[in-house]
Amino acid sequence: MLSVGVVSRVGSRSEFHAQNADEWTLPEPLARTRREYIAEMTRQPVRLLTTRLSLRQPAQADAEVILQILSNPSVVQHNPSDLVTELEGVEALVRHWLRHWERYGFGNCCVFEEKTGRLVGNCGVRWMTIHSERVLNLMFRFHPSTWGHGYATEAAAAQLHWAQESLPTELVVARIRPMNLASQRVAAKIGLRRDPDFDDQGEDGVDWAFTCRL
Ligand SMILES: CC(C)(COP(=O)(O)OP(=O)(O)OC[C@H]1O[C@@H](n2cnc3c(N)ncnc32)[C@H](O)[C@@H]1OP(=O)(O)O)[C@@H](O)C(=O)NCCC(=O)NCCS
Repeated sequence: MLSVGVVSRVGSRSEFHAQNADEWTLPEPLARTRREYIAEMTRQPVRLLTTRLSLRQPAQADAEVILQILSNPSVVQHNPSDLVTELEGVEALVRHWLRHWERYGFGNCCVFEEKTGRLVGNCGVRWMTIHSERVLNLMFRFHPSTWGHGYATEAAAAQLHWAQESLPTELVVARIRPMNLASQRVAAKIGLRRDPDFDDQGEDGVDWAFTCRL
């Protein structure tokens, strides 16, 4: 059995602009339910702690270590369009991630190994639209030196748990390339299943969708 190991959530969620709720064209009462959850969200950035990891909002100071991850050919083997080889590229990416954080109070996190304080990867949920449906896209990416220790599973489980608790009406979708078996295994271990209705065309070809709605 998977041990999620979520110890606690530090801080909580941020402002959700009312206009976002209005943008969503859901039938009542589902739309009303969604607005209620959004109205309840508080305004601190989300921070998660698990047994071995802490997950927090990225900062520009993290860019050099993120570059070591994103410039590694093994890391981008299945998603070559994610390759970044210059610090400026990572800084732009962090700015992009931070815009989501500023607007919603959650997003792609930097993941730190608690025992060393080392930044080991990125993992988080961000809004995206797939086939006209707004969903929470779950991503996880770790430095190869840490692979095989269950870190991706631990971090992704914490993010999924947070999303299900905080935004229970929203669908979490992990988009994974068909040959990326390690990632698919992580998705399976946190309880996600193949959901072809949400397959879509990514930058590097078809992305298979994994959700827990089925
Ligand atoms: C996918 C990734 C995040 C996994 O990180 P990790 O910390 O090693 O993951 P975990 O240790 O939690 O679990 C990996 C699982 O995949 C399995 N696995 C590893 N390589 C595999 C392969 N080639 N085929 C099948 N399963 C594989 C492991 O055995 C493990 O499963 P187990 O616990 O049942 O033994 C990491 O490889 C990575 O960063 N890859 C590059 C980025 C990426 O592809 N991200 C996914 C896009 S959403």
